[in-house]
Parts: sequence; C-alpha cells; structure tokens
Amino acid sequence: MTQEVRGVVARRKDAPVSVETVLVPDPGPGEALVKVLACGVCHTDLHYRQGAIGDDFPFLLGHEAAGVVEAVGEDVSDVAPGDFVILNWRAVCGRCRACRRGQPWYCFDTHNATQKMRLADGTPLAPALGIGAFAEKTLVAAGQCTKVPEVRPEAAGLLGCGLMAGLGAALNTAPVTRGQSVAVIGCGGVGDAAIAGAHLAGASRIIAVDLDDRKLELARTFGATHTVNSRTSDPVAEIRALTGGFGVDVVIDAVGRPETYRQAFEARDLAGTVVLVGVPAPGMTVQLPLLDVFGRGGALKSSWYGDCLPSRDFPMLVDLYRQGRLDLDSFVTETIAVDEVEKAFTKMHAGEVLRSVVVF
Ligand SMILES: NC(=O)c1ccc[n+]([C@@H]2O[C@H](COP(=O)([O-])OP(=O)(O)OC[C@H]3O[C@@H](n4cnc5c(N)ncnc54)[C@H](O)[C@@H]3O)[C@@H](O)[C@H]2O)c1
Ligand SMILES: [Zn+2]
Ligand SMILES: [Zn+2]
Repeated sequence: MTQEVRGVVARRKDAPVSVETVLVPDPGPGEALVKVLACGVCHTDLHYRQGAIGDDFPFLLGHEAAGVVEAVGEDVSDVAPGDFVILNWRAVCGRCRACRRGQPWYCFDTHNATQKMRLADGTPLAPALGIGAFAEKTLVAAGQCTKVPEVRPEAAGLLGCGLMAGLGAALNTAPVTRGQSVAVIGCGGVGDAAIAGAHLAGASRIIAVDLDDRKLELARTFGATHTVNSRTSDPVAEIRALTGGFGVDVVIDAVGRPETYRQAFEARDLAGTVVLVGVPAPGMTVQLPLLDVFGRGGALKSSWYGDCLPSRDFPMLVDLYRQGRLDLDSFVTETIAVDEVEKAFTKMHAGEVLRSVVVF
C-alpha cells in the first residue's frame, strides 16, 4: 500500500520550495515508516535547494527530525511501532573497512531506505540526507531510527543533524577536555552546539566568533565566556590577546570558508587542534604555509556529523537534556507550519533564527 502525505519539495535549482503530495510506500525489508512530529530547518536544506549538494532534483527536504515509528519491514527488530525516535543520516553498515576496524562512526557505507518516495505523477524524490522529513510521514532505513526516551520533539529532532554535529565536534572530534581554551567560529545552530559541548566538557575559556552581534549575544547563553565580532576586529589577534598571546587549544570552524579556516589555523596554540565542521562549497581552496603546518604541530581534523554514533550519543544527550544540563530548547527559535519553510530560509539567511522547526 502507498500513503499520500504532504511534503516540502525543491523541484528546481534556486526555485522556491513548494508543499506537494508525496507518495510513501509501506516499509519493505530493513525499512521503517515514521510519523514525523517535528523537523528543524538546517542550512544544509538550503544548500540542497540552491543546488550545492548535487543535481538530483526533485528533493524532499528536511532531515533534523523526531517522530514515532508507525510500521517496520518484516525483518526489522531494533525498532518497533510506537517507538519515539530521532532520525539519523548515518546508519552504519557494520561491514565496511571502517566498521570492521572498530570505528563505525567513520562508516564508509551508511544506508538509507531502498524504496523511493514519489511525487503524485510517479517522479522519484531524492530525500535530503536520505531522510526527507519535512513530510507528515517518511520512509527510512530502520537503522536511521534511534530510539530515545520521549521528550519535546522540536528539541530532540535537532540532535538528528546540526546540534549533534556541533556537540560532537567538541566532545568527540576535538575532543575538548576540562580546563582547555576553545574558540568557535560561526555561531549558528552548529557553532552554538559546539559551544554547549565545550561547556559540557569543562572548557575554561570559550571564545565565540561571528559577524553578527545578535548571534554573539546568544552564544553567551550556551556558554561562551568571550565574544569577538570578526566584521569589526581581527579574530586571530583578539583570540591571542585573550590567551596570553598564545592562541587557544582548540578552534572549531563552524562556517567552512577559506578565510575562517585560515583564522582557525592561526588562532590555535602550538600543538593545538583545528576541527572543521562547517561544510565548504565545491571549488573552495585554502593555502597554508607548509612550514607552519609542520612547526605548529597538533592536529587538523574534520568532523563528519560530529563523529557521532547515534545509538551511543542520542540517548546520552537526551538524558542530559532531561537533567537540565543541556539546553536544547534555546535552539528552537520558533515553530512553524509545513508551508513556511521558504520563509524560514529567508530568516536563516538574515541571521534572525538559530532554528525554525516545522511541527506536524
Ligand atoms: N559536519 C557536519 O556533519 C555538518 C552537519 C550539519 C551542518 N553542517 C554545516 O555547518 C555549517 C553551519 O550550519 P548552521 O546550521 O549553524 O548555519 P547557520 O547559517 O545557522 O549559521 C552560520 C553562522 O556563521 C556566521 N558566519 C558566516 N560567515 C562567517 C564568517 N566569515 N565569520 C564568522 N562567522 C560567520 C553567521 O553569521 C551564522 O551565525 C554549515 O556549513 C552546515 O552545512 C555540518
Ligand atoms: Zn560501515
Ligand atoms: Zn542538517
């Protein structure tokens, strides 16, 4: 059987998104059908709609979601109908060379549903990050459903992408340890989550860098101890001045542009770590003095999805949220209806929101 639901579709590069009828098949082997309760608007959705993540239009957007499993394929045993789940976009395979060597968070063969969701005329949809959750229901691989205790879905869903990426960049990739100094460049949802992660890890000094004073003000609520507006001052000089002239132990680049990466490279102390979690656009390049790459030592890392393991990290973070130690609610700037995603992109672009969250 196929169900008809409403979903947010990007039909063509740079065209405004539209709400369309989406045909969702019943789950087959290895699949789960999820009733979506809430789904955050992430910068990556905008990248899709702008054609920066390939030309596979039409896309079914949305990927930061929480919901309830409605049905599962016959061979699925890890999740069951009625489970409250956060959707993840890296369901590990358990068989690739990364998984076999015991590093499943690097899995090179993550999987998605095999059946396609379609437009009413039968055109197959490409779901954003293999999820497609700006829809009343979505079909995913069962491994993309991580069961967690039931909490506010608008908040929990954000752990499914941006917040996990930021928290994980600090907690898993760097990893920040207590007493360290940290700078975070770019204070959107991802950067503020990195700040919250550094705060959880016990960093002594957390310097937030952004071009927008409103974002810097918000960054303080997540744990930033100092802020630098890099539109009006030189972030490298400011970060050095705040750390006895040395630079910080860890710099997290949550923008992903040549200039921010360069700032991150130069603003860290000797033997420090740079973590790139912002996603660069195709064609961007960076030039670094090779002698400094050697002479400064330390590590230059990238963070895919915060190097997370959803089964390990989502329940742990939901637990910290329930204890009041991780403020997920402050990331939810507003809740919106399914037909307001295009408006939410405009607000994101104008820097007015951390996250708009579609509720169903
Ligand atoms: N690595 C991952 O797995 C992963 C997951 C999700 C998102 N991302 C990426 O993380 C990045 C941030 O996502 P977001 O949702 O927080 O975006 P966002 O648009 O909400 O926030 C970006 C922030 O960076 C600031 N900014 C932009 N240019 C800057 C500059 N030159 N210097 C300082 N600050 C600058 C903006 O003012 C804004 O506050 C995006 O590139 C997104 O694609 C990565
Ligand atoms: Zn694998
Ligand atoms: Zn995202």
